[in-house]
Amino acid sequence: MGHKPFKTVGVLGLGHVGLPTAVGFSELGWQVIGTDSDTNKVALVSNGCCPFYEPDLEPLLRKNLAEGRLKVTTDVGEAVRESDILFICVGTPQKPDGSPDLSQVEAVIRTVAENLNGYKLIVEKSTVPVQTAQWIKRTILRYAGNDAEFDVASNPEFLREGTAVQDFFHPDRIVIGIESERAKEWLLELYMPLNASIVVTDVNTAELIKHAANSFLALKISFINMIADLCEVVGADVTEVARGIGLDPRIGPHFLQAGIGYGGYCLPKDLKAFIRIAEEHRVDFSLLKEVEKINEARIDKFVKKVQRALWVLKDKTLAIWGLSFKPNTDDIREAPSLKIIGRLLEEGANLRLYDPAAMENVKQVFPEDPPKLVYCKSAVEAATNAYAILLVTEWDEFRNIDWTQIRQVVALPIIVDGRNCLSPEIVKEAGFEYYGVGRK
Ligand code: UDX
Repeated sequence: MGHKPFKTVGVLGLGHVGLPTAVGFSELGWQVIGTDSDTNKVALVSNGCCPFYEPDLEPLLRKNLAEGRLKVTTDVGEAVRESDILFICVGTPQKPDGSPDLSQVEAVIRTVAENLNGYKLIVEKSTVPVQTAQWIKRTILRYAGNDAEFDVASNPEFLREGTAVQDFFHPDRIVIGIESERAKEWLLELYMPLNASIVVTDVNTAELIKHAANSFLALKISFINMIADLCEVVGADVTEVARGIGLDPRIGPHFLQAGIGYGGYCLPKDLKAFIRIAEEHRVDFSLLKEVEKINEARIDKFVKKVQRALWVLKDKTLAIWGLSFKPNTDDIREAPSLKIIGRLLEEGANLRLYDPAAMENVKQVFPEDPPKLVYCKSAVEAATNAYAILLVTEWDEFRNIDWTQIRQVVALPIIVDGRNCLSPEIVKEAGFEYYGVGRK
């Protein structure tokens, strides 16, 4: 390699965004130092353990620790002093009014200011409201003095949980918001090994692209869910509608899966934050408010569907398959499953829960309480004596299950498929009654 304009990349925050980013950059050959205020997390990561479930991440983490390109420390100041580029990957949780809580961003930026030992390129990667870069600049100048040498850039993350490693190495695009030539050159150099399409904009625009992307995805999901409701009433099939419209490249096939609505840490939070920003600037975003409303109503519609299948739910045993907000993650933040569990318990049902990865996390919210709430070791165990199986998260395991075996253990052969992930033909052949979302 020829002369490199910078040596070390610092990643501040080692959560779902920061850890894949730190591991990804080190795998690309860069020297990376990662840090987090959570000392337990740092201890786990430095021992090669991923603190959450993310396919393919742990082996890459171990490889890059072993090969010495990735280092982790609890000392944020040290990470700042050693790095030339700093990625801000701390959490931006939601406040009760829907706006993001930026206290972790401010705290980390103050540490950056206090440890500035030469030019730094500070890059926002966590999702932050548009114009946050301006605040970062003011904060650094305030705490490090007016002669502080730095640039602030925006490089929003588009990593999906469950496919974060794949998304890091094969991004659809990389968005870079910059205000200086040096920042542009450094970021282009950093991402050069990926050979990806790169969109270079000003900082405000890059910040806005992230909000707009996630809001548009949420809009697509609520749109197809709205269509699903009509399909149910008029006797049409939403999966076919999705196929029929999705083949038009102006629409596209993705994010047209009708079901119990979007969850997770990003879509609901980013949408709320975007609506807040628009309100603050007096721009009418009622379109996105409708998107939220449709999403919130999905849970009630699902519970009503279970009631229509079974009539009274009190004292009936129900199996819940899938608890994480989507497959291939143990993340349950804003997971529809939590709301569904709450509603069904209110109705007096007894629940048998199973998820391949997320059960420990759900136990923190709903502790085991037999016979009301039982955690099971397998899908078959959860289905045992159930009056209905409610499919809440579309793990592959459920698609590939042996229905003849399940048929033998259930009390009643009823499936309510909240994700339209099963083939109605196959389960009906095995003797089940099938209820999907917007399907005939
Ligand atoms: C999202 C964005 O996709 C990613 O680019 C961003 O950076 C972080 O937020 P993630 O939250 O990991 O990623 O999940 P995603 O795959 O987008 O799914 C979000 C939710 O929408 C899930 O609850 C999923 O079940 C739901 N969904 C998705 C649908 O209901 N229907 C669909 O067709 C697609």
